[in-house]
Amino acid sequence: MKKIALTIALLCSASLFSGQAAANAFVDGEDAVSYRQAAFQTIRFNLVDINDMFRGNVPYDLERVQRRAEALAALTQLPWEAFNIPGADHASGKVKTALWQNLDDFNSRGDKFAADAAALHEAAQAGDRRQIQGAFREFANNCKACHDNYRAD
Ligand code: HEC
Repeated sequence: MKKIALTIALLCSASLFSGQAAANAFVDGEDAVSYRQAAFQTIRFNLVDINDMFRGNVPYDLERVQRRAEALAALTQLPWEAFNIPGADHASGKVKTALWQNLDDFNSRGDKFAADAAALHEAAQAGDRRQIQGAFREFANNCKACHDNYRAD
C-alpha cells in the first residue's frame, strides 16, 4: 500500500510542479511505467479480495464483490494508454521485448481483459453467485496468459 500511495503522490507532484505542457497525461516514459504499474497493483488488490471470498478465506459478501467488480471495470481500462505513448518502449518497465513487437496483439488482449471485467461487473450487479464465479474465472485467466507472453520476470 505504501508503494501505491507514494506513486500517487509522485504522480500528483509531477503534474502540479513540472510546469510542462505535455501533449499526453505523462511527462515521459518513466511516468507511464509508474502509472501502469500502480494500476496493475490496484487491479491485483481487487482481484485477490474477490478470490479470497470465493475461497472462503473471508466471508462472502455480495455488496463487497460488487464494489470490487465496479473498481475492476474501471481500473482495467487504465494501463494500456501507458504502453502506447512515445518513449514507452525505452522506459524501465518489466516488459519483454516481444510486447513492443506485438503491440496490436497486446492492446487487443487489454481490450478483452477490460471487456471481461465489464462482464464481471454486470454479473455482480445481477447477483447470482455461480454466474459471478464463472465471470470471475474468465476474467482471472487473462492475467497469466498475458504475463507469460509479455511481462518480464
Ligand atoms: C494484456 C496484458 C496483461 C494483462 C491482461 C494483465 N497484466 Fe499484469 N502486467 C502486464 C505487464 C506487461 C506488466 C509489466 C508492466 C511494467 O513493468 O511496465 C504487468 C505487471 C503486473 C504487476 C506488477 C506491477 C508492478 O508494480 O511492477 C502486477 C501486480 C500485475 N501485473 C497483476 C495483474 C493481474 C492480477 C492481472 C489479472 C487480473 C493482470 N496483471 C493482467 C500485462 C498484463
